Amino acid sequence: MADKLIIFDTTLRDGEQSPGASMTRDEKLRIARQLERLRVDVIEAGFAASSNGDFECVKAIAETIKDSTVCSLARANDRDISRAAEALKPANSGRLHLFLATSALHMEKKLRMTPDEVFEQARLATRFARNLMGDIEFSPEDGYRSDPDFLCRVLETVIAEGATTINVPDTVGYAIPELYGNFIKNLRERIPNSDKAIWSVHCHNDLGMAVANSLAGVKIGGARQVECTINGLGERAGNCSLEEVVMAVKTRRDYFDLDVGIDTKHILAASRMVSQTTGFVVQPNKAVVGANAFAHASGIHQDGVLKARDTYEIMRAEDVGWSANKIVLGKLSGRNAFKQRLQELGVSLDSESEINTAFARFKELADRKSEIFDEDILALVSDESVTNEKEQYGFVSLSQHSETGERPHATIVFTVDGKEVKGESDGNGPVDASLKAIETHVKSGAEMVLYSVNAISGSTESQGEVTVRLQNSGRVVNGVGADPDIVVASAKAYLHALNKLQSKADRVAAQG
Ligand code: KIV
Ligand code: ZN
Repeated sequence: MADKLIIFDTTLRDGEQSPGASMTRDEKLRIARQLERLRVDVIEAGFAASSNGDFECVKAIAETIKDSTVCSLARANDRDISRAAEALKPANSGRLHLFLATSALHMEKKLRMTPDEVFEQARLATRFARNLMGDIEFSPEDGYRSDPDFLCRVLETVIAEGATTINVPDTVGYAIPELYGNFIKNLRERIPNSDKAIWSVHCHNDLGMAVANSLAGVKIGGARQVECTINGLGERAGNCSLEEVVMAVKTRRDYFDLDVGIDTKHILAASRMVSQTTGFVVQPNKAVVGANAFAHASGIHQDGVLKARDTYEIMRAEDVGWSANKIVLGKLSGRNAFKQRLQELGVSLDSESEINTAFARFKELADRKSEIFDEDILALVSDESVTNEKEQYGFVSLSQHSETGERPHATIVFTVDGKEVKGESDGNGPVDASLKAIETHVKSGAEMVLYSVNAISGSTESQGEVTVRLQNSGRVVNGVGADPDIVVASAKAYLHALNKLQSKADRVAAQG
């Protein structure tokens, strides 16, 4: 029988560390549910001790998720570990993930500790954690740049103290596939009790090799857990991408000979959800989930695919959630058809009232747009206001006038705590005028650090999806809005971002 490859998703922890990708509790819960639908084995829900907000997120996810193990990161000290264990108490299956840096550089410059002190702290922290929980992962931070002799000493000891998973992070994305694979192989061969733990890979993408390094860690090193994120989200150049690593192992089962429990047809919905929540747009040529991943533009390729699909396709688009028939619904489609399409897309809304809200929006959209694509539906249900009725600001209507040679003018009506207000302004362009019109009332003082527009389904008939990133008093939030009118989409995105800025949720990003 083939070994199982454990998929450990850290979108909600390491992924959230990307500047601007911080998520609210509700957003994290929604993504966690999608990860459970994907049948991710372990969900790293956050870093409970880093803030009260993160503690609450980990706890809420531990209360909600039943089928995946829920994990919290913790520095290797008693306070962090106790806090993480407390947050994980409601979990069906919980894991404590301890980390402590072991490279000479990190020990000397960051921790200002001697190797012996680090060794002792790793040992005592693992012992402390093991008394609280059975499932303990230990990560020597910057492990790949650590001295192998010292690493063997530390890892042998933490395994003896009860660590059940040993993760070898390439924290700074410095590794090369063959070298990283052999690094792990060497550790496993040298450490006498290495067979008592599952070995795991955790690779950053600074040199664009996170997926390749992770796969080498599996193939050469014998790791049986991969740490990854949806869309490869993560600090700097990101982490190993879940969809790429999973599809590589599945598509090349002949080579890897490993089982992966992921239900791949939910991959695209997860990718859209993460992208829309964080405002990190997926590049069109991104493997597996990019808009062009299964598009054949050249005549020779199209001809080949029509004659025999496997001439140019190594994976089936449907297997990762792309629909074979892309035009799905129109204005005559009923609630049942809509609900069924949501199910086929792997989206489950939690209550009938959420389905009703989403369906009302679908009808509204179908009145203005004759063909509704999967991407439109995913955008519609990813909009936070479908699942969260308690927003401070809500879009009502917009009119704007722009003409060559004249300064554009916009009038917007929106709600503030349920009460309608009207704002008017000029601007450099219609979008600028509309957002300034909102600000005549809100006066947020926020600085816009990103504005981007993306056509959801390709053509000028499609909905525009706008991402706005605002920064205020050290907090960075993303707002997303979709509409066939990109000025309206921009206003929606701006109000969405303002709602997030107003929300009291604490969003201090984790470290590690
Ligand atoms: O990159 C890293 O070293 C980490 C650890 C905390 C696992 O994220
Ligand atoms: Zn990391």
